[in-house]
Amino acid sequence: MVKIKVYGNQKVEGVIPISGAKNAALPLMAASILSNNGLKLKNVPPLLDVDNMLCLLENLGVICQVDQENTFANSISLKTDAIYNFLAPYDMVKKMRASILVLGSLLARYGRCKVSLPGGCAIGVRPIDLHLKGMEALGAKVELRDGYICASTDKGLRGVEYKFPIVTVTGTENIMMAATLAEGTTVLKNSAQEPEVVDLANCLNKMGAKISGQGTKVISIKGVSDLHWTEHNVLPDRIEAGSYMIAAGITKGCIDLQGGNFRELLPAFIEKMKQVGLTFCDIDGGIRVQTTGALEPACINTAPHPGFPTDLQAQTMAMLCIVNGESYITENIWENRFMHAAELARMGADITLTGHTARIRGVPLLHGAPVMSTDLRASFSLLLAALAAKGESIVDRVYHLERGYCCIVEKLARCGVVIDKIKH
Ligand code: EPZ
Repeated sequence: MVKIKVYGNQKVEGVIPISGAKNAALPLMAASILSNNGLKLKNVPPLLDVDNMLCLLENLGVICQVDQENTFANSISLKTDAIYNFLAPYDMVKKMRASILVLGSLLARYGRCKVSLPGGCAIGVRPIDLHLKGMEALGAKVELRDGYICASTDKGLRGVEYKFPIVTVTGTENIMMAATLAEGTTVLKNSAQEPEVVDLANCLNKMGAKISGQGTKVISIKGVSDLHWTEHNVLPDRIEAGSYMIAAGITKGCIDLQGGNFRELLPAFIEKMKQVGLTFCDIDGGIRVQTTGALEPACINTAPHPGFPTDLQAQTMAMLCIVNGESYITENIWENRFMHAAELARMGADITLTGHTARIRGVPLLHGAPVMSTDLRASFSLLLAALAAKGESIVDRVYHLERGYCCIVEKLARCGVVIDKIKH
């Protein structure tokens, strides 16, 4: 799928099953390397980024078997007793930054690895210095050579107290994975508290790791000598759920989201959406979200969990574009995550950017237009704007959507939404 044609003025009404979280599945897949005995993951979303991680693991020597559970989920068995390669090459890492997650597990289990530096990406510079400092604190020797991170350890990793200067999600995951096999206890301060970090820690504990404090700022990891096989269900994708909540908001629809406790996974986001005027009620196995009356403008600051997630900022902006009054969004995580603003403006939105704050003056109506996706969440924001707009829109470069939203056209079709895929 290259482009999608979206017909405007559509209402999203129906039931949407929420898939497993991409951002939980990727670190869990990398964690399989820590054990000689493999790992079985269930509720894995069939997504491009998951395929990319499978390619990377296969290249290392992991034997991967994918079985379909249903249209929206696979189970993946990872057999890890024959790893022979310790290189994550540039061609693979450049496709997906989360490849950096193999650093911690390769280093912990094999004492060496060579991983390409990921480089920047559309939403910001995205350095990985904190991953490297954490590995060094655990006793690894880290060198940067010819665009690669060459990491090794002579006597194995050893437990340490390490404080992240800023909160990093994959940084916390990487160091936590490395520390599971280190000698002694590691205490990670100012750790990320994201549910995906908790899911990883819970899976590692099922494999025999001794991790406590996950979900708080201080995570303690008592090193063990090896880990065993387990089976783990990937937690539901809170960002996919939040994105569809906004679909109900922007189209004045009603959606039953199935598959998780989304109040617990999205506390600040749901609180803010209630202030905007969306209503939520618990249903069997999920939550119902709907909009009936007029929506109110909002003031939003993105922040690490449990704050308002940056990964829902673009979608929220799309909705606020048609809310009467002035809204403000400050993006505090990524320095270049407002690229959707210019595309929304092509549809008639009134957005002024000053530094990392966007002022959004609500307009009565957006108009369909050809627009260009720049990254995963920005793509969804354009789709949302197009659903609510007057007239047709063509959203280009939607391969971004396929990286992180499972079966989007099929899920929306279940809610009566008509979207045409354009293959070229
Ligand atoms: C994760 O990225 C997510 N990706 C991102 O989701 C998400 O936006 C982000 O966390 C924040 O919630 C995955 O989980 C695979 P960070 P990550 O390290 O871990 C700076 C999506 O749309 N930083 O928490 O790479 C960094 O520049 C994606 O699904 C350093 O300075 O993000 C940023 O400003 C996009 N040095 C801040 O920290 C480092 O070594 C937070 O980044 C690491 C990070």
